Amino acid sequence: MTTTADQSLWLQDLPKRVYPPLSGRQEFDVAVVGAGITGLTTALLLKRAGLRVAVLEADRVAGGVSGNNTGKVTALQSTVYSTVMRTHGLAGATDYATASTAAVRQVADLVALEGIDCDLRRSPAYTYAISESEVPAVEEELTAARRAGLPVRPSADMDVPFPVHAAVRLDDQIALNPVKYVTGLAHAVDGDGSRVFEHSRVLDVTEHRVSTSDGQVGARHVVIATHYPMLDRGLYFARLEPTRSYCIALRVEGEVPAALAINAGSPVWSISASGDLLIVGGQGHKTGQGARSPFESLEKFARTHWDVEEVTHRWSAQDPTSYDQLPMIGRYLPGSTDIYTATGFMKWGLTSGTFAGQLLTDLITEKPNPLAGRFSPYRASLTALPHLAKMNAEVAIALVGDRLRPADASSSSSLPRGQAHVVRDGLGKTGVYRDHDGELHAVSMRCTHLGCLVRFNEAETSWDCPCHGSRFDVDGEVLEGPATKPLPRRDPR
Ligand SMILES: Cc1cc2nc3c(=O)[nH]c(=O)nc-3n(C[C@H](O)[C@H](O)[C@H](O)COP(=O)(O)OP(=O)(O)OC[C@H]3O[C@@H](n4cnc5c(N)ncnc54)[C@H](O)[C@@H]3O)c2cc1C
Ligand code: FES
Repeated sequence: MTTTADQSLWLQDLPKRVYPPLSGRQEFDVAVVGAGITGLTTALLLKRAGLRVAVLEADRVAGGVSGNNTGKVTALQSTVYSTVMRTHGLAGATDYATASTAAVRQVADLVALEGIDCDLRRSPAYTYAISESEVPAVEEELTAARRAGLPVRPSADMDVPFPVHAAVRLDDQIALNPVKYVTGLAHAVDGDGSRVFEHSRVLDVTEHRVSTSDGQVGARHVVIATHYPMLDRGLYFARLEPTRSYCIALRVEGEVPAALAINAGSPVWSISASGDLLIVGGQGHKTGQGARSPFESLEKFARTHWDVEEVTHRWSAQDPTSYDQLPMIGRYLPGSTDIYTATGFMKWGLTSGTFAGQLLTDLITEKPNPLAGRFSPYRASLTALPHLAKMNAEVAIALVGDRLRPADASSSSSLPRGQAHVVRDGLGKTGVYRDHDGELHAVSMRCTHLGCLVRFNEAETSWDCPCHGSRFDVDGEVLEGPATKPLPRRDPR
């Protein structure tokens, strides 16, 4: 594979400018933890409502999932309306369509109001059938989206070089560079009494204070916009299911498609473009239960349909889906009046992270919002309870089953470079990886969140947990939560 960069094409536009880390004690009206699209949209709308806001980011602005996606801002999202209709009925699907449509408008408004240069272009979005077998799902989505109030129509006129068997089309959606957009939001937040702090990992949150290793922010309200809620409270991990997906950008002979397209079945083939680069995404799977060669499969698909000159970028990320298929936006705990969160965006958070910003702003400024109950993390979703039980049964099976599985080897002396295996270690198991220089990296395989055994992710050289999606590098450092502590290192054997 001839890839030039192992990072998203958007992150090459991350500006060199670094906001300072937090130091000392500072007072604001609201502390927002996390500088992705959710945190920064919330922060900007609160600032525009007259509040002083501090945004605290563990790493860089837009460096999370908001910098690692396919850049589509659309209310038509694969088969979301048929799915939501099944669990939440017509009213739920209509609320989701209303919120998503408002979010697309909100993004365009903020770009115009704040003068954000993010390569925004208007395009039709499609949910398409790549084979005859996907036609019924496309037809169901057309009916569901229409009933939910979206001005969709059947149209298979996508500008792609392969046959499309059916498609739903929604005009006037948005493609943009998400890193330029989110850094533009940060630029608009910082100043006039509000601040953005980078390299400021929040370690502790109480009702009116957040703390990093070097400072504290006192605030009347705290918003946890860390993608996966960073606090252990609230049992979010038991209600969210993270899935990973993969993307490549390619230089191809001829025109790239204007369409923002995704098919209605599995495997997923998501298609979009940025400038003269084609973007293909898909190969999703539950975290810890990885596909073997996801990037190669995406490249093979692209080469089948386009004359590919070069694969320029490849990247991957994960996003959680809630047990009942709607984002969770609102108060962190049923009784908490001053801590809020937003998560569970099902890989559509450029749209739903935006409407989360509006909803959280309305809650904090005490403005009535008719969608608050629909997206509350504590809504009752009785029809989704069997799925919740199944999710947690799968966790229990992974917790026990992986322990019973035999180890791969008793020593690592013959482990080839670039590969990993499992070695028994008394009552536990050690994961050993040999890097391309021949050095061994060994860690305990017991996830530091709740103790499931991690599994090796060959495509990304990481140890991933099948239970709630934590990920660790080969030396055990946390790449993704809910785990916050590293895997203990072991002596390689
Ligand atoms: C492969 C893929 C493709 C996608 N494509 C699309 C798409 O085309 N359209 C779409 O709408 N959605 C898409 N999504 C989903 C979308 O990108 C996400 O839902 C959205 O970006 C989530 O934004 P966020 O702000 O909640 O999270 P993030 O962008 O991850 O931001 C959270 C931030 O919190 C920070 N943080 C974490 N812990 C702490 C802490 N303790 N202290 C301080 N900071 C902390 C992180 O560093 C991070 O920067 C895609 C997702 C994937 C995986
Ligand atoms: S993420 Fe929960 S046990 Fe690993």
